[in-house]
Amino acid sequence: MCGIVGYCGPKPATEVLLEGLKRLEYRGYDSAGVCVGDGETFQTYKRRGKVRDLREIIPEEVGGFYGIGHTRWATHGGVNDQNAHPHSDDQNNLVVVHNGIIENYQALKNKLISDGHTFKSETDTEVIAQLIAVMYKGNLEQAVREAVYLLKGTYGLAVVHRDEPGKIVGARNGSPLVIGVGEGEMFLASDVMAMMAHTKSAIYMEDGELVSMTKDSYKMFDINDQHIEKQVEHIHWELEQLEKNGYTTFMEKEIHEQGQSIQRALQGRIDFDGATGHLGGLNLTAKELLNIERVEIVAAGTSYYAGMVGAFLLERMARIPAHAELASEVRYKNPIVQPSTLYFVVSQSGETADTLYAMRELQRKGATVLGVCNVVGSTIPRESDGGVYIHSGPEIAVASTKAFTSQISVFYLFTLLMARMRHYSFEEGYTFISELNRIPALVEQTMQRAEHIREVARRYAHHENFLFLGRGLLYPVALEGALKLKEISYIHAEGYSAAEIKHGPIALINEHTPSVFLVPDGGLREKVINSMKEVQAREGKVIAVAVDGDDEIAEIADEVLWVPKTHELLSPFLMVLPLQLFAFEVALELKRDVDQPRNLAKSVTVE
Ligand code: G6P
Repeated sequence: MCGIVGYCGPKPATEVLLEGLKRLEYRGYDSAGVCVGDGETFQTYKRRGKVRDLREIIPEEVGGFYGIGHTRWATHGGVNDQNAHPHSDDQNNLVVVHNGIIENYQALKNKLISDGHTFKSETDTEVIAQLIAVMYKGNLEQAVREAVYLLKGTYGLAVVHRDEPGKIVGARNGSPLVIGVGEGEMFLASDVMAMMAHTKSAIYMEDGELVSMTKDSYKMFDINDQHIEKQVEHIHWELEQLEKNGYTTFMEKEIHEQGQSIQRALQGRIDFDGATGHLGGLNLTAKELLNIERVEIVAAGTSYYAGMVGAFLLERMARIPAHAELASEVRYKNPIVQPSTLYFVVSQSGETADTLYAMRELQRKGATVLGVCNVVGSTIPRESDGGVYIHSGPEIAVASTKAFTSQISVFYLFTLLMARMRHYSFEEGYTFISELNRIPALVEQTMQRAEHIREVARRYAHHENFLFLGRGLLYPVALEGALKLKEISYIHAEGYSAAEIKHGPIALINEHTPSVFLVPDGGLREKVINSMKEVQAREGKVIAVAVDGDDEIAEIADEVLWVPKTHELLSPFLMVLPLQLFAFEVALELKRDVDQPRNLAKSVTVE
């Protein structure tokens, strides 16, 4: 979703901004722009399209020593050059980039129009620019403070004024902003990735905070102009993690990295001596953990499916009633919070608006909410009551892959911890954790089968509809497989419980609609085979994901994507991999933009 980058310093500002915007491309966007100042004046360039298109319209000689840039993901107004950011007031004295949505923008706009102002775009952001300009009496900090007072909604803002060259003022409410502190240079961005090539020192802004910066100083204050002191934090990611490292796309790299990323999620958290999981950030005593009678998991997209795996595990292994729910639904359903229920919110980015707002609503009702997040310093981990980082490293492809396997890693550890506190014996715990510890190696083995998956994917890439079917613990994995395929290939895919197809989806089956079946290694295996046969009886093609050595499946299915054998309850780790690779290869075959699929955004910071 939208990205902001601001720069003050000795390097050519245009280059720094364009490079920062390139780093933000992964978030998903449809237009881009910059405003660069050289002390005499400032110039704005913006257009629909990619950052490389923007670069084409900026004359070589434009350097500047400060400026702001933006990648826009349209909310108010169509995708065109006028609606791209930055936006200015009607005198072009002041320029603004903005992430978020201003809910009362129409009322503010009407008032500004009746006062004689004219507008060039359909955006809510232009209203902010005009409003700050009206408030401006020679002090940009004050004008921004007075203007944001009137705004209802969410914003991350960066503002520059012609009369105060070399200065950027930023404000945050509900949309992330990070200050980057360099040597003789300062940055302001919606995401640390935009500044990591220059500095690893960051200050994460909170809602209600403002900042004013020049190349060698910054000050933070609140809406009442009270001074704020904040700690500078170190960004732990490495720049090379933001590169493709020989892969052609980030998605492929991230899929192949999962042996290591799962290893990082498990590292230091496997307690062989106690035959249990150890999660330091929960902030709950053993007694509090023992008193938990129910677990609710709240998330969106892929994180929601990881949450479904977590809920299933908790019920099955720890015998604790557990349920996963869509964050967007939780917020508005007036959720019932009970003291013995523990809540998890799961979010790779830690910024998803639906998930964040659901968490705040639950907290207002007194819930204890723990976060399972990847991005350190993001809003959810900062506002939650505790939690666990998954340590996947930056996930840049819009479609989430490695975050999913790391999120479920955390739920396996937590479930084991809860199970051991209840009925799991030392021996049971030990057996389980030993197998969990083997998962990274089994993931590496599965990856070696990528070539076969590519072959199958190429043969099936031109079908228009797919079903993904699984049961039990593999049901959410089937949902994730369908989501992956539709996200990046734009092929219609539905995930279903294999048992449920006879209640409707079987009507879709014919020779043109292949079904991908996840075949467990025990439990419901026979039932899944029955569903497979029902599909084949209607001429549907069957692609099975099955466990090595299952000869019967080899005879029944049209294609088999094999995964190594593991403990049945750990199969989601391995079964999801062929589905990720399948989606990736199909998308590649169809020449889709795998990393930045159309209409999607990595971090959805609006509702
Ligand atoms: C967006 C992304 C999905 C992601 C979802 C939740 O829709 O495109 O890939 O699963 O947000 O994101 P989160 O950062 O909260 O895990």
